Amino acid sequence: MTFDIGPNAADGAGSAPGGGTILLLGAGRMGGAMLRGWLAQGVPASAISVADPSPAPDLVELAARTGVRVNPADSAAVDAAPVDTLVVAVKPQMVESAAAGVQATLAPHTLVLSIMAGKTLADLRRLFPAAGSVVRAMPNLPAAVGRGATVAVAEAGCPADRKERAASLLTAVGSLEWLADEALVDAATALSGSGPAYVFYLVECLTRAGVEVGLPADVSERLARATVEGAGALMGATGQPAAELRAGVTSPGGTTAAGLSKLMADDHLQSLLNATLRAAAQRAAELGGTGPKA
Ligand SMILES: NC(=O)c1ccc[n+]([C@@H]2O[C@H](COP(=O)([O-])OP(=O)(O)OC[C@H]3O[C@@H](n4cnc5c(N)ncnc54)[C@H](OP(=O)(O)O)[C@@H]3O)[C@@H](O)[C@H]2O)c1
Repeated sequence: MTFDIGPNAADGAGSAPGGGTILLLGAGRMGGAMLRGWLAQGVPASAISVADPSPAPDLVELAARTGVRVNPADSAAVDAAPVDTLVVAVKPQMVESAAAGVQATLAPHTLVLSIMAGKTLADLRRLFPAAGSVVRAMPNLPAAVGRGATVAVAEAGCPADRKERAASLLTAVGSLEWLADEALVDAATALSGSGPAYVFYLVECLTRAGVEVGLPADVSERLARATVEGAGALMGATGQPAAELRAGVTSPGGTTAAGLSKLMADDHLQSLLNATLRAAAQRAAELGGTGPKA
């Protein structure tokens, strides 16, 4: 599979098919997962540099094996030459100092792609003033296994080819939804960003309920996990709407119908999830500085 990250061929280091060099700023859990995704998707290692002051041993091993260059972020070893894409994957509280070290890599053709929680397009524009374009993305935890659900929003006027470049890099670790309005990032964070935790809690609750109806705790936990994993895989494999899949396993008068008659009664679960997402979205707005602080 070829991988096109844009038309801006860079000299010196190798470039991806179609051109394009990448500097990954911060290669922790999420940045490391993205790096592995890019390599798996065919981005040439020679096109990628990593700036991280203390790269984890598995990253150092990966770099040695593949040829990805890893430079200490705080040394002169960081490339001073402009890059086509700067991917910002440091913790939000580290970005001021991290950004200072990479200003020389920015040029009018540079796309800054940030995955930092709570850092707005305006923050990114202030932090990386010489970049040509800025895209803000919010992946979620399953990106670590290539199954992330990411949302992204581009700065007004971002050229289509740079959005495509961002999309290529983000879809290497899962699905991508472009948002037309940055204000929706908080809502998406409440759903897909925090969503894995809701599903993990569902497994915990199913496990306890299984014990309640008589199963040994370890059996109940294994069954709950496998059921959620299997249901998710089935939904992915068939692409059928969730409501259709539910109806398909619900025989009239059967056991699933009996269970659902409790789960769906009075829309309790729906109300609870509405409140859950409202609370999470409000907190996202508070942390991102775009909403009320109360
Ligand atoms: N994890 C998630 O599920 C998730 C989901 C959505 C968005 N995000 C966003 O992704 C970003 C990274 O999260 P993470 O969980 O991957 O964090 P992480 O594991 O702490 O990774 C951040 C990496 O950046 C490095 N770093 C620190 N200062 C640096 C500098 N000046 N220059 C270059 N690198 C520097 C850190 O090194 P040290 O460890 O030595 O400090 C670390 O390796 C965050 O902004 C977060 O908001 C994460």
